[in-house]
Amino acid sequence: MHLFRYRSGELYAEEVPVKQLAEKYGTPLYIYSYNTLVRHLKAYSDAFNDYPHIICFAVKANSNTAILRLFAKNGGGADIVSGGELYVALKAGVPAKKIVYAGVGKTEYEIRFALKSKILMFNVESEAELREIDRIAGKMRTMAPVALRINPDIDPETHPYIATGLKKHKFGIPIEDALEHYRLASRLKNIKIIGVHKHIGSQITKISPFVDALKKILLLIDELSIQGVELKYLDAGGGLGISYRGEEPPVPKELARNLIPLLKNRKLTLIMEPGRSIAGNAGILVTRVLYLKKGAEKEFIIVDAGMNDLIRPSYYNAYHNVIPVLKKKREKVFCDVVGPICESSDFLARDRELKRLKQGEYLAVMSAGAYGFSMSSNYNSRPRAAEVIVKSKGHFLVRKRETYDDLIRNERIPVFLK
Ligand code: LLP
Repeated sequence: MHLFRYRSGELYAEEVPVKQLAEKYGTPLYIYSYNTLVRHLKAYSDAFNDYPHIICFAVKANSNTAILRLFAKNGGGADIVSGGELYVALKAGVPAKKIVYAGVGKTEYEIRFALKSKILMFNVESEAELREIDRIAGKMRTMAPVALRINPDIDPETHPYIATGLKKHKFGIPIEDALEHYRLASRLKNIKIIGVHKHIGSQITKISPFVDALKKILLLIDELSIQGVELKYLDAGGGLGISYRGEEPPVPKELARNLIPLLKNRKLTLIMEPGRSIAGNAGILVTRVLYLKKGAEKEFIIVDAGMNDLIRPSYYNAYHNVIPVLKKKREKVFCDVVGPICESSDFLARDRELKRLKQGEYLAVMSAGAYGFSMSSNYNSRPRAAEVIVKSKGHFLVRKRETYDDLIRNERIPVFLK
């Protein structure tokens, strides 16, 4: 459920007309609904209320510090995958003791930063990484809190680019090798084993992959317990899907109803790492129609947002609903909604039946709050969009639109060209 709705034919973000925001802040513009974000976070914490848990928002889905602050203020933690995400999360006020750190390629610099910051745990993805963390922690005369990320070989039945929990993927330690890795970890002097982690993929719309993966992990926990290794944290990852186009993914409550009974009587703290299911439908991308163009085979609505602003349609062939900000009676046209970028893959929507729009009108690309701005780039030397949070009647700029100066801020002309 989100709070972007039509009122008398006009799209509102909570209590504010989207058109007003587009005019004030310009386009392309990301708009987030505060109350939707809080509601989605609360849906998780309420659902898992009966079991000790921490909800660690996946920063990669949306790393705006205002949004992370909002989660931190509401009891949330962070799931990070880089030193940059750690920096952003800490700056936003996320407590270090609620930060978990995954990723297959942590550098020494990043490991030191995380150890210095005293994060809750590293989700370690290989033997080599485990040894490296041990070495660095030794040099820093500290103990590294560690969970091993286990690849349970479960098919999440999602887009191949966002599946992570199968044998063929680079993520985690193969489940067959898990015991051996825990044994090694317990021998390493500067490693403190405290947990186990799994994350099998994203935009998962069924319960069964979550249940199957958890069952496999619980068997592992039992075996470890027999060998005298007691874990405190079970990090079950993220991955719950959202409705982009009528999908009916389970809600957190259903997930909890299926997972908690499996965990009963175990002294664990459950960590969840949702990203998309919290931020996805809490944000939209607003864009202005620049031109209408009749191609040889179809019509094109050329808008001022491109694949640099929202790459999901081009990259995953992802479907985002595109709707007019002002609903009017008009004829329908079969068209593509495309951006100004010089690539044929620069589309936001393809082969859609949309009402005929006019130049200067606004469109809203729905479900753009997760992996929207965070995956945006400056391709074609386009300044990145502004971001606004709406809270009831209030609206707040949470990221300024980039300027042309920002585009070259870090560049230097070498002396031999001066
Ligand atoms: N935890 C870990 C370790 C992850 O790798 C991810 C996402 C999450 C949690 C959060 O998953 P979520 O709840 O958002 O599904 N760019 C793609 C999605 C990539 C997801 C990568 N990992 C997209 O736009 O669909």
